[in-house]
Amino acid sequence: MSQAKAQAKLHTDSQPTIATPSHTPHLEAFKQVVESRRSVRKFTDTPIPDDVLRDCLRLAMLAPNSSNLQPWEFYVIDSEKMRHRANKICMNQNAAKTAARLIAVVARTDNWLAHSQQLLREFPIKPVPKKVKDYYTKVVPLDFIRGPINVLSAAKWGVIQTLRQVKGPIKSPYYTFDDVKNWATNNTALAAENLMLALRAHGFDSCPMGGLDEPALKKLLNLGDDHHVVMMIGAGERADNGIYHEQFRFDYDQHVKHV
Ligand SMILES: Cc1cc2nc3c(=O)[nH]c(=O)nc-3n(C[C@H](O)[C@H](O)[C@H](O)COP(=O)(O)O)c2cc1C
Repeated sequence: MSQAKAQAKLHTDSQPTIATPSHTPHLEAFKQVVESRRSVRKFTDTPIPDDVLRDCLRLAMLAPNSSNLQPWEFYVIDSEKMRHRANKICMNQNAAKTAARLIAVVARTDNWLAHSQQLLREFPIKPVPKKVKDYYTKVVPLDFIRGPINVLSAAKWGVIQTLRQVKGPIKSPYYTFDDVKNWATNNTALAAENLMLALRAHGFDSCPMGGLDEPALKKLLNLGDDHHVVMMIGAGERADNGIYHEQFRFDYDQHVKHV
């Protein structure tokens, strides 16, 4: 079969197996999910079934994440007493008060080492390839290690600067608590977006909320200094008056730079 015929056949097959610029499998469904997601501020009384929420959280955790270290946690606030307090901590926003489910999305800065070790235990290839073992036992610890009150960071910075002069680009490691916090929150925010899109794909909606009292929420959830609330997500079925105005964004060219 000629290449052109093979291409044509691919386009007419109901389940094309590879993406092409003119026909990407599931593109329409993807667009529908992304384009219909809105921040919904009022939800109906319809509950989100446990199995649906579980599937959405499973999909959230399929988000890409740095070195697969998965620094995220999701606190589904189910108890009525906690929920009442959590609504208040979210400044009694409608998106919290009317939500069928309220989920605190939390990033952790203290479990990269434990997760490196867990990753080696659960790695799908056995025996674990030496390269992978070396990566998680040597490269990752060097990336994160700072010592108490960043005592090792100045030396680490010096070594990296020298190596850059000699070898060229070296991946920036983490020197401060804020560097690690950025790392953990970046990864966790990707999972949060997956969660909101998964809810949409299941026919439900969400509202991400940063308008909350973080210390009060950490106290309520009994979270330590290495837990960071990335956002609260209110979720439920969209009420008719749940969207306040049509969606709009600034001009495409304001944000996209081809360099
Ligand atoms: C990190 C973050 C924090 C947000 N905090 C709030 C919030 O506290 N309350 C609220 O009503 N919406 C909140 N939003 C929703 C935004 O206002 C909303 O995404 C934006 O206006 C665009 O609207 P759209 O999501 O419907 O496209 C937040 C969104 C993000 C990503």
